Amino acid sequence: MTQRTVLVTGASRGVGRAVAEASLRRGDRVVATGRRSSDLEPLAALGDLVPRVLDVGDEAAIMELGLALQKELDHLDTIFNCAGVYSLQSKRWDNRRTSLETVTDEELVHVFRINAVAPMLLTRVLRPLLAASPSGGRVVNLTSLLGSVSVKDTPGDYAYCASKAALNIMTRGLAAELAGDGIICVAVTPGWVRTEMGGAGASLAPEESASRLLATTDSLTRADSGRLIDEHGGDLPW
Ligand SMILES: NC(=O)c1ccc[n+]([C@@H]2O[C@H](COP(=O)([O-])OP(=O)(O)OC[C@H]3O[C@@H](n4cnc5c(N)ncnc54)[C@H](OP(=O)(O)O)[C@@H]3O)[C@@H](O)[C@H]2O)c1
Repeated sequence: MTQRTVLVTGASRGVGRAVAEASLRRGDRVVATGRRSSDLEPLAALGDLVPRVLDVGDEAAIMELGLALQKELDHLDTIFNCAGVYSLQSKRWDNRRTSLETVTDEELVHVFRINAVAPMLLTRVLRPLLAASPSGGRVVNLTSLLGSVSVKDTPGDYAYCASKAALNIMTRGLAAELAGDGIICVAVTPGWVRTEMGGAGASLAPEESASRLLATTDSLTRADSGRLIDEHGGDLPW
């Protein structure tokens, strides 16, 4: 099989790290991005690594990286938008410290910027490389059940929930806009994963979540574009 070239954000730790590791181990060329090069260096031992420092909250840096990659690569098969934040007050999803009393402009804007805006900007600048993928480019946006509007019945978590709901609807818009380029865009939840965000009591190890994400990504067809997908490959409620 031809080697795939994939880009992973948030490759420093958590689900993004596991996706980068699993992709490298199976022989993919991996553009692994993170905020510190020291976090990425250990990945080089696993395979064909292209490490790139990127703070996804920095629009200029996203554009700079995208333009540099357009010179270095002839195509990109998949972007895994894994970088994410829960809140400014807590890295853990279940601390429930983000209520109406504590939510701020700074919190809402920061969480939206990382979780929803960054995947859009990356997709915009990497569109030509995705369109050049011989197998059809894929944009895999990591979302959450907490972004499902129809099941939201808990208080608080305004920034995180709304940012993932925004990411979901933008993914549908991207699916429609990029269909002509043969690019498949989906929002997929990694499940409840034992990372800094998911906590130690979560049900899935990062490696198991990554393995499911890769299986789902590999199985995507054009008919799947615009879907909101759960950790088993089924449909997540909108
Ligand atoms: N864990 C779960 O149970 C769960 C459930 C549903 C959805 N998700 C989603 O899955 C994705 C991965 O979550 P996770 O559990 O792996 O989270 P995590 O363990 O908290 O890791 C977050 C990742 O995002 C990166 N990141 C945060 N801000 C960044 C920025 N400004 N620029 C670049 N990278 C940044 C972190 O990098 P640093 O090391 O530099 O901070 C880290 O690599 C997220 O989108 C999350 O919302 C997770």
